[in-house]
Parts: sequence; C-alpha cells; structure tokens
Amino acid sequence: MKNLHNSVMINEIISFLPLKKSINVIDATFGGGGYSKTILEKFNVNQLLAIDRDPISKIFAKEIESKFSNFILINDKFSRIEEIVSNTKFKDKKFDIILFDIGTSSNQIDNAQRGFSFNKSGPLDMRMGASDKNAYDIINNYEEKNLAEIIYQYGEERYSRVIAKEIVKNRKIKFISDTIELSNIIKKCLPKKNQLKNKIHPATKTFQAIRIYVNDELSELKTSLEKTLKILNKDGLILVVSFQSLEDRIVKDFFNHNSGKRWRSSRHYPELPDKLATQLKIITKKPILPSASEILENPRSRSAKLRVAQKI
Ligand SMILES: C[S@@+](CC[C@H](N)C(=O)[O-])C[C@H]1O[C@@H](n2cnc3c(N)ncnc32)[C@H](O)[C@@H]1O
Repeated sequence: MKNLHNSVMINEIISFLPLKKSINVIDATFGGGGYSKTILEKFNVNQLLAIDRDPISKIFAKEIESKFSNFILINDKFSRIEEIVSNTKFKDKKFDIILFDIGTSSNQIDNAQRGFSFNKSGPLDMRMGASDKNAYDIINNYEEKNLAEIIYQYGEERYSRVIAKEIVKNRKIKFISDTIELSNIIKKCLPKKNQLKNKIHPATKTFQAIRIYVNDELSELKTSLEKTLKILNKDGLILVVSFQSLEDRIVKDFFNHNSGKRWRSSRHYPELPDKLATQLKIITKKPILPSASEILENPRSRSAKLRVAQKI
C-alpha cells in the first residue's frame, strides 16, 4: 500500500527541534509516517515512539522499522499515551518532543471504503480504528434531537435541525447506507444561495461532526494533552497541528490554562479547573499557518494551525 498522505507543515515542525541534542520523541499521530521519518533522518534521536489508532499505520511503519532500531509503532489511541509509555520499554523515560497532527490522513479519506469522504461512494463507517460506534448506526438509529445536537456541537452546522429532520424522514423509507446518499440528503437541506456563497461542500460540517463523534476525537485530545504533562521532560515541547476550530480552541485553552495566562475554564473546555499550576510556557503566541506555497501544493493543509508550548 502506497502512502498517500502529504505531511503538513513539516518544515515548521522541525524548526522547533534541537539539532544536536539527543532527544526522545513521541509522534502521537503516526499516519503515513512522514513526521517520524523526517525526524529520524535529520535529528539525533535516542528513541522515537509512534502511536496511531489505525491498524493501517502498521503497513507504513514497516520501512521505518527496517531502517531504524530506535523506532517503534504502537497501534493504540493517544488518549492512552501515558499507559503506552509505562507498558513499553519507555517506562520511566521522559520525552523531549511530543507531536500531534490530529484529524484524518489522506490514506483514510481517500479510501472510499472507510466512509470519510462525501465525494466518493462508500459505506457509512468513519472509524479511524477500533471504536464502539460507527456512522451507519448513528445516522440510522439515533433520535432526531440527538442527531441534531451532534451535528451542531461537533460540526457547528447552523442547519443541524433541518438536516437531522431530513435524515430521519429518509431513513423511514430506506436505511441510509452510503456516503453519497447521506451527502445528497444534506445538500437538499442547505439554502441554494448559501451553497453558492460558501466555498466548502454542503456536507463538510455534518461529516466532520459525525466523524468527531464516532471517534470521540475531542475527549481523545483533552485526555492526551493532560497526560503529556506527566511524560514531558523539563524544556520538552508539545507541538499540535489541528485542522478545525473545535480542536484548536482546546489546544489554545489547554496551553493558556497551564501557562497561567487564563484562570477560568472555558465554554469549549469546561473540564478545566479554574486554577492550575503553571507548567507550560507558550512558544507560539499566535498559531503558525502553512505557507501559501504549501497550500497551493497541498490544499488539504489550508486549515492547519500549529501551536507549540514548552514544559517549564
Ligand atoms: C493527519 S494524520 C497524521 C499524519 C502524519 N503526521 C504524517 O506525516 O503522515 C492523523 C493520524 O492520527 C491518527 N489519529 C487520530 N486520532 C487518534 C487518536 N485518538 N489516537 C491515535 N491516533 C489517532 C489517525 O488515525 C491518522 O492516521
């Protein structure tokens, strides 16, 4: 299987890594392995632990495993980052660099059978790896109110109620089993003038919402960010690339809270206590965005935002 994923902002990522120092690295979202490979090739890596919940990542890890004995991939969720460290040879080790490049990889989106794409016909699945939910079950069995809430909360879709109603109406006639079928149902719900004005496909937000819900993506991120604090070395860096505002706000709130910049929990992150000990220093005051040339070459990078913080 060929790796179809173009790593996003790799040059910006590596610009933060120390050139000479021996480093322990976690690539928490291995994907096609672009970040891991570049870091192993260019830096003085003591150990690199890669994590990905998708079993296909094992295929892309093979080549790296054969070249680098200081590399290991664990097929698991990054919310278990601390447990993964303590169950492997890394027990008692601390890390200098922890990387997250969250969301889906092109290897997932471009495979119609995975059901992530509203442009390609495929089964309604959307699981990134083992998950107790899938898109078919949600679309065909969840109550209308519940569906609308998911679409609003995780997709920030203002037509969530209309879309949920239309889904329920259609599934009474026939189960909705295909991505294009769902995409066409959603398309009917958005006003024409809105569709002409917006640059994004009308199904973008709803598909994003279902995917986030199926994979519990926001809780995954919150849990793992908390755990990184326990396994980072002093002066170690957390680097996070996110692709949509819900995730970016979580990263921003987490960094702000742990750096003493903000004391109150936020709407997007109510779990954060009102006061936290200062453990981080924010390195990127504003998120770093991909260059115009990267966006031109790889349009999927256009919504990426990189934030970096350092353990103090
Ligand atoms: C954007 S891709 C990463 C691409 C990678 N940086 C590269 O250069 O090829 C995101 C990857 O993170 C994985 N992923 C997303 N959420 C995860 C989670 N909670 N735990 C582990 N892996 C996750 C996905 O399966 C996907 O392979």
